[in-house]
Amino acid sequence: MRKKIIAGNWKMNKTPSEAVALVELLKPLVNNPDVDVVFCVPAIDIIPVIEAAKGSNIGVGAENMYYEESGAYTGEISPDMLTDAGCSYVILGHSERRGYFAETNESVNKKVLKAFEHGLIPIICCGESLEQREQGITIDWIRQQVKIAFLGVSADQTKTAIIAYEPIWAIGTGKTATADQAEEVCKAIRSCIGEIYDQETADAIRIQYGGSVNAKTAPELFAMPDIDGGLVGGAALKAEFADIVNYKK
Ligand code: 13P
Repeated sequence: MRKKIIAGNWKMNKTPSEAVALVELLKPLVNNPDVDVVFCVPAIDIIPVIEAAKGSNIGVGAENMYYEESGAYTGEISPDMLTDAGCSYVILGHSERRGYFAETNESVNKKVLKAFEHGLIPIICCGESLEQREQGITIDWIRQQVKIAFLGVSADQTKTAIIAYEPIWAIGTGKTATADQAEEVCKAIRSCIGEIYDQETADAIRIQYGGSVNAKTAPELFAMPDIDGGLVGGAALKAEFADIVNYKK
């Protein structure tokens, strides 16, 4: 039985002091032993958030990372910086990184390999545009993103990874994919992992849905057999996130 994992992606929101206030607000409310709870926060918020989250069940992650160890890469964050700060997770290949910052399947793969080398759990994002959905190429597109992201990754590593299926047309639009639409793709992702590795690996990996998840849509989405939780944007910045984490209550 896979444990649910519900992560907030704060994106470019919350100054360090605002971040601490949000953790203080959510900390007592997200204590659900049935769910792994993760806050993925802006780099500058990581240390204060880890400090504020002490003594809680909240895991902390970054929203991006570079694939080199160190050196002349102005503005980038290294895997050692994240682990030394106390991060356990890192979001890789978010559609906003791909769209605005020219990330490719190949750079995502390099980052995935580097994350595993440093013991960080990657939350690997994939998702189709509205145009691709309308052209009927959603599954082909997602399979390609997944296959390239996992090049050179071992089965044991893959078992611990998280994939976030985030249809671009559902992100920040208030238009959540239906539970059936989300399940169809998450199921296809799981069979793709099964083809690359084996059934055991496919059964172990956790696959999230992301895209306008809110307290209303979470219960139906998370009840689907291949959806193991969510990656939440806007609703992760307020008390509603606790209702998403406690979607069963
Ligand atoms: P929203 O929940 O704001 O649609 O964002 C989803 C997302 O991109 C999470 O990574």
